[in-house]
Amino acid sequence: MLFGTSVWSRHLADDRDYWKAIARQCGQVTPEAEFNWALVEPARDRFDFSGADAIARFARATSKNIHGHSLLWHLAIPPWAKEAMATREGWWLVRRYMERTMRRYGNKVPSWDVVNEPIEPKDGRADGLRQSPYVSAFGPDYIERALTAAREIAPNAALFVNEYGLEYDTPEEDARRRALLKLLERLKARGVPLAGVGVQAHLDLAKQDHFRADVLTRFFNEIGALGLQIRISELDVKEADPHQSVARRDKAVADATQRYLEAALANRAVGSVSCWGITDRYSWLNQPYSTNCGLPLDNGYRPKPMFAAIRATLRQRARMTRS
Ligand code: XIL
Repeated sequence: MLFGTSVWSRHLADDRDYWKAIARQCGQVTPEAEFNWALVEPARDRFDFSGADAIARFARATSKNIHGHSLLWHLAIPPWAKEAMATREGWWLVRRYMERTMRRYGNKVPSWDVVNEPIEPKDGRADGLRQSPYVSAFGPDYIERALTAAREIAPNAALFVNEYGLEYDTPEEDARRRALLKLLERLKARGVPLAGVGVQAHLDLAKQDHFRADVLTRFFNEIGALGLQIRISELDVKEADPHQSVARRDKAVADATQRYLEAALANRAVGSVSCWGITDRYSWLNQPYSTNCGLPLDNGYRPKPMFAAIRATLRQRARMTRS
């Protein structure tokens, strides 16, 4: 089983302990934002791969794979491209960014999130797709267009659609699961190149009462039945009450992780687990004056109960695979 984390180049450069922790614990790294269009082409025709290149150097030096994240995401469109996208050269601009980014690192990046967060039932479309700038500019087929382009650019890469809000048994998340499955069925029926689905798994302690292992199992089975793989792509835990003792907070986070991964990893379609950060020091959930403690290592890089939960469930999975 592959274990990984998202990564930022500036922490690799500034924080030797960060560098070492990832080198030691992970087989795979996902650029947290430095492959995104907004960072790669901040101004039209001006490409900046400095952050991405630094991550690639780290990956080479430490023999890690990179999971490419994320090519078409509504929240990572550079401001200049929002208008340009709706013009006649719109697709050409998207495609050029894809080509430059995907070709740059070759086999170092064997898998890609080609489309990120395409589902939003609340937008009210019959197909359940998000009414994103991509849908507005290119229509709902932008997903298959992007996957087909990605296949041409990187014939050997495993191509993924990545999505959030799929973990809990609430009407809202149920609608997201249904809409995502419908999309996957459509893509499979049309023979679109797709290896699998990234399930973000941003867990939320405020929603833990709505976690049901059987609901997750059924959903993963449905994905597996389509012949698709699953990556747990952005695992972390949002805390509900930061005023409790450290021990109670750590236990709640570890318990949520344990329950989730026990259910998730029982499905053979799940091929890897990546956390959205390795240390609480740099979690995207942190606020200016409060740290969210929802990652495997604490601020000082000490392993927490969440770390033990991940290790235990990955080991259990390894035993299952051998038997
Ligand atoms: C977040 C990063 O963690 C932030 O640092 C960045 O500025 C914005 O995006 N779903 C995704 C990720 O697919 O790319 C997001 O990452 C978190 C939600």
